[in-house]
Amino acid sequence: MKFFVDTAEIDAIRELNELGMVDGVTTNPSLIMKSGRDIKEVTKEICDLVDGPVSAETVDTSADGMIAEGKELAKIADNIAIKVPLTWDGLKACNSLTNDGHMVNVTLCFSANQAILAAKAGATFISPFIGRLDDINLDGLELITDIREIYDNYGYETQILAASIRSANHMSECAKIGADVATAPPDVIRKMANHPLTDKGLEGFLKDWEKTGQSIL
Ligand code: E4P
Repeated sequence: MKFFVDTAEIDAIRELNELGMVDGVTTNPSLIMKSGRDIKEVTKEICDLVDGPVSAETVDTSADGMIAEGKELAKIADNIAIKVPLTWDGLKACNSLTNDGHMVNVTLCFSANQAILAAKAGATFISPFIGRLDDINLDGLELITDIREIYDNYGYETQILAASIRSANHMSECAKIGADVATAPPDVIRKMANHPLTDKGLEGFLKDWEKTGQSIL
């Protein structure tokens, strides 16, 4: 499973990228707002840092507007994936931008039917939002399972990009289910390293080591 980082914070992307943990980046208007940066400026910086796809989101609600904004965003770098919402106009924009040779990430997907339409429209990525479904007592991971089954039934090449990830557990579950990509905030990726037994085990080893009076260097 590929790891995308869901942030527009350059320092966090750089740190994870240096560890080889970043296969791409996703941003959205809220993340750009949080960064306090100009969208084109910060997106360019991210694209210079990361080799993989960097999603930049359109904000117009009409197909023509999304196409125009998408083409403008794509000028930032070759690795831009244009993000459009899963509306009827978004699907039209997806189809047109895909036919033009752009990578397109169809976002705000909450159902298997929406995911089928995105694949038919030629999306490079479909972004089902797990956490936001869980928030309203639906099962976000079940949606990933359903989309995986449907895409495999028909050999759809659209990649399942699990989004709105809120916990380290979501990451391993997505990997088990067969999501192609998971995009997560930097702190969720860091939390994947945590286990209380690792901490307890290390504490015990260090205590015993102290008793030996030895040093390695
Ligand atoms: C994905 O591309 C979105 O940017 C993101 O995962 C949304 O997550 P949220 O529901 O935590 O805002």
